[in-house]
Amino acid sequence: MILILLGPPGAGKGTQAERLEKRHGFRQVSTGDMLRAEVAGGSPIGREAKAIMDRGELVPDNVIIAMLDRRLAAEHGHDLILDGFPRTVPQAEALDRLLAERGLALSGVIVMEVDEEALAERIVGRFTCATCGASYHERFRPTRASGVCDRCGGRKFIRRADDTRETVLARLAAYNAQTAPLLPYYRKTGKLHPVNGMADIEEVAAAIEAILAGFAAELELTRK
Ligand code: AP5
Repeated sequence: MILILLGPPGAGKGTQAERLEKRHGFRQVSTGDMLRAEVAGGSPIGREAKAIMDRGELVPDNVIIAMLDRRLAAEHGHDLILDGFPRTVPQAEALDRLLAERGLALSGVIVMEVDEEALAERIVGRFTCATCGASYHERFRPTRASGVCDRCGGRKFIRRADDTRETVLARLAAYNAQTAPLLPYYRKTGKLHPVNGMADIEEVAAAIEAILAGFAAELELTRK
């Protein structure tokens, strides 16, 4: 089963993908995480992507599509949540082709609808455990014990280089210009499922569960 989580920066895609991974055993495929790993490893892709990401722009389609193709091969047979991919119409067309080549089909696209004004606060307040990658927010999702990761007990946290107010504006502009055209693209397929991303994290999770209930048979099938 292949699901896409679509929405602007800070909409909550990563937060919900993490939950779906834990609850249903999906594999989270985040092109943002993959790019950050390339940057951290100093690879040629990482060197090309770093400045683009720091400016809040999109990495070229050919780089992303090749990276995703390799990842799909590695994740063969698993249920996938695509988080942050596709982000342009050419990426969506490439995904259709890559899935068809593997005899797979897209199950659904969950779009997280949010007010743009709320996003900067969500993004600037985000921090991540340096040890296990668990994601938190100073106000909306704090650690239970101050300075200690709930999941692994780690005490070192990091913030993303592109999580600044200035870069958020550029990332939003990129979303509106290049990613929003995916909404009519997927609406035409009848696979688009809107969710109110302004609700609190648990309510958003419940709304996604209700959508997934419609896919229950498909989820069972891929597990057999
Ligand atoms: P990427 O890593 O994909 O970032 P993004 O799309 O900008 O999304 P974010 O990770 O910032 O937000 P999110 O929706 O996952 O929100 P989260 O759950 O963390 O991409 C980074 C860069 O890589 C791009 O700018 C681009 O340069 C490049 N890139 C990546 N993919 C690409 C592609 N396909 N093509 C080209 N370039 C690509 O939540 C945010 C915060 O809010 C958290 O602290 C969370 O705790 C909190 N929160 C979540 N939900 C709620 C809620 N309901 N209420 C209150 N707080 C909430």
